[in-house]
Amino acid sequence: MRKSNISVLGIGYVGLCTAVAFASRGYNVIASTHDAEKAAKINKGLPPFHEPNLQNLLKEAIDSGNLKCLVDETEKAVVQTDLTFNAVGTPSRADGSIDLHFIETSSHDIGKALRQKSAYHVVVIKSTVVPGTTQDLVKPLLEKESKKKCGTDFGLCMSPEFLRQGSAFEDTIHTDRIVIGEHDKRSGDTLENLYRDFYGKDMPPMIRTTLATAELIKYASNAMLATKISFINTIANVCEKIPGADVKVVAAAMGLDKRIGPLFLNAGLGYGGSCFPKDVKALIACSRTLGYTPELLESVENVNRAQPLRAVEFCKQQLGSLEGKKIAILGLAFKPDTDDMREARVIPIIIQLLKDGAEITAYDPVAKPTAKTIFNSKIHYATSALECIKNADCAIIVTEWPEFQELTPEDYARNMKQPIVIDGRRIYDPEEYSKELRFTAVGLGK
Ligand code: UGA
Repeated sequence: MRKSNISVLGIGYVGLCTAVAFASRGYNVIASTHDAEKAAKINKGLPPFHEPNLQNLLKEAIDSGNLKCLVDETEKAVVQTDLTFNAVGTPSRADGSIDLHFIETSSHDIGKALRQKSAYHVVVIKSTVVPGTTQDLVKPLLEKESKKKCGTDFGLCMSPEFLRQGSAFEDTIHTDRIVIGEHDKRSGDTLENLYRDFYGKDMPPMIRTTLATAELIKYASNAMLATKISFINTIANVCEKIPGADVKVVAAAMGLDKRIGPLFLNAGLGYGGSCFPKDVKALIACSRTLGYTPELLESVENVNRAQPLRAVEFCKQQLGSLEGKKIAILGLAFKPDTDDMREARVIPIIIQLLKDGAEITAYDPVAKPTAKTIFNSKIHYATSALECIKNADCAIIVTEWPEFQELTPEDYARNMKQPIVIDGRRIYDPEEYSKELRFTAVGLGK
């Protein structure tokens, strides 16, 4: 059987990983983006963002001719293929609600392409969109522009993506589950067949459902993970008031309960990135428009907004006034293995420290160029962790990059002006680090 030709719209993490995954298994993939600079990089086999393990596979996909990336040629990409994954961005508006203008524009373009096609084509929404979007926005636009009927002339599905940055490619090919929201049975069958062909004997568990349920599954999953994080951060804040209590031990013991599970219970300075903050806000805004106030999610969000500022409070407890104090920030990315700083918890920390008159030197193994676009010369940038802590009055671990674990208590004691270390991600053993340092950590009772 001939392998389907696939088009992918949008080449963020989801789009690019989907495109590379299918291309690496012999499918002919055409990606399209409005970003000419990104497309040029991709066509040279260079990922436009830092993502482990993607570079070689992308290069192979480009060199083999299985993948090419077009600029602003959605129609051409769709016309030349059998199925389209739409993975364009769905950012937040200022009020937290979802901004669907990329989905709208791309739906217009796909519709125009469908008008030129006689063969059956399936459109699959992969972007995170609030419930109702595929049925009430995408479908009418496709039908209007194509002058064709959804379910008869073309198919429509919603299939959310669950990959994490830093392990994006691995997550794409070894996902825990496949969700297919289908407009009609033929659309769902076509997408299921494609996934079965792609995964072969490693086909993950699959749920077939309605478009709206599929859309909600994505939000509910991210909201649940965000809730676990804000929950454990709440327990961390309680632990800090109880002498001898340690949230790390609490979380480890809780995680042994199969009903709770050990993952996403790492207390710290809160969650960042392009997904959890945006998706929790969008789910709150969407629920409110439907006449329901999701108080639990509002609390998840409030806890997360306050959590990074715990690091500043710790600093003040140790140093008093921060005016003129030298603070070393270890880690800028929203998590390790990425150069992404969207909603990174370090941003509110640095803003507050600067307001309080502190002088900041920061180090991150890969996110310095991103940080420069946010803070430019307002902070200093070190080229190593050791250089970062030199002569500092206080060091704060903001991102748990593995290389920070290599810094010993002696390194801190020898290099800093005052040996004050705040472990915002619980990477150090408190007993060992408390011996030589004035050591504070999230979720550790004194
Ligand atoms: C998240 C989800 O994990 C993916 O399943 C989902 O597909 C993705 O969003 C998305 O919607 O596209 P991602 O944002 O890449 O993936 O990163 P995570 O590994 O989930 O981490 C998010 C934030 O939570 C980070 O700032 C991390 O430091 C924080 N976190 C995570 C904690 O503070 N504690 C934890 O125990 C785990």
